[in-house]
Amino acid sequence: MPWASRRRNPSCNFSVTGSCTLFSAPNPQYSNPQSPYLPKPYTPNDKWSQRAQREGFRARSVFKLMELDERFHLLTPGMTVLDLGAAPGSWMQYAVTNVGPKGRVIGMDLQAIEPIEGTTTVIQDITDTAGVLKALAALNIDHVDLILSDLAPSTSGIKDIDQWRSIELNQSVLEVAERVLSPGGTCVMKVFRGADFDAFLRELKAQWSTVRTAHAHASRDRSKEIYIIAISNTRHREHPAR
Ligand SMILES: C[S@@+](CC[C@H](N)C(=O)[O-])C[C@H]1O[C@@H](n2cnc3c(N)ncnc32)[C@H](O)[C@@H]1O
Repeated sequence: MPWASRRRNPSCNFSVTGSCTLFSAPNPQYSNPQSPYLPKPYTPNDKWSQRAQREGFRARSVFKLMELDERFHLLTPGMTVLDLGAAPGSWMQYAVTNVGPKGRVIGMDLQAIEPIEGTTTVIQDITDTAGVLKALAALNIDHVDLILSDLAPSTSGIKDIDQWRSIELNQSVLEVAERVLSPGGTCVMKVFRGADFDAFLRELKAQWSTVRTAHAHASRDRSKEIYIIAISNTRHREHPAR
């Protein structure tokens, strides 16, 4: 079944919320003993968290982006970057230092993000594509060079549901990408690996000019998360945002 149809299938119509790795309190998401997607045991203050604190980053996730950037050369000065699922903001912190004063970084999340100098944050459900486009239009942005997504759905503990929620969130990322990503632009997505992963990747490979996958060392040992790095072909952008 094509992904677009599956998204319309009511049985796949989950509501999504999420949470992320903050320093202050262990996230209950990471202590769910039933979820196969989450590492156990949860180490709230592991070496990555300690390093993030030392270096002034809001979350340990920053080291995943750093690693991906070193490997795939994602961020360059002057870029416009859209970070989907950006709270608490460590990816934005890293991105803004790399795009420099001529670049732009816009972060969207269901949760408010404490301001980060040189960036713009928007409270926005990214599954509402029209809302995302409207928010970008209000910022006078009609295209972006790079989409980053570290989106994480809330987990149910049921393997197939959790991984499907992750795929479904990424379908929304792709809808946004189709509307605003520049020709030749790059989209980075986090996916929980599971039964639907191979089909999702196959469809991406059919539609994008380059698709790579990568594990990040800073991902928790038992995490099933994997990052997809997709580069759009030059005719990818079919519907201008404005
Ligand atoms: C792992 S955290 C992102 C961490 C971030 N990359 C950082 O470095 O600070 C995942 C985020 O996805 C967000 N999220 C989940 N579903 C969302 C949705 N439908 N719309 C917007 N954000 C969503 C959560 O609120 C959460 O903040």
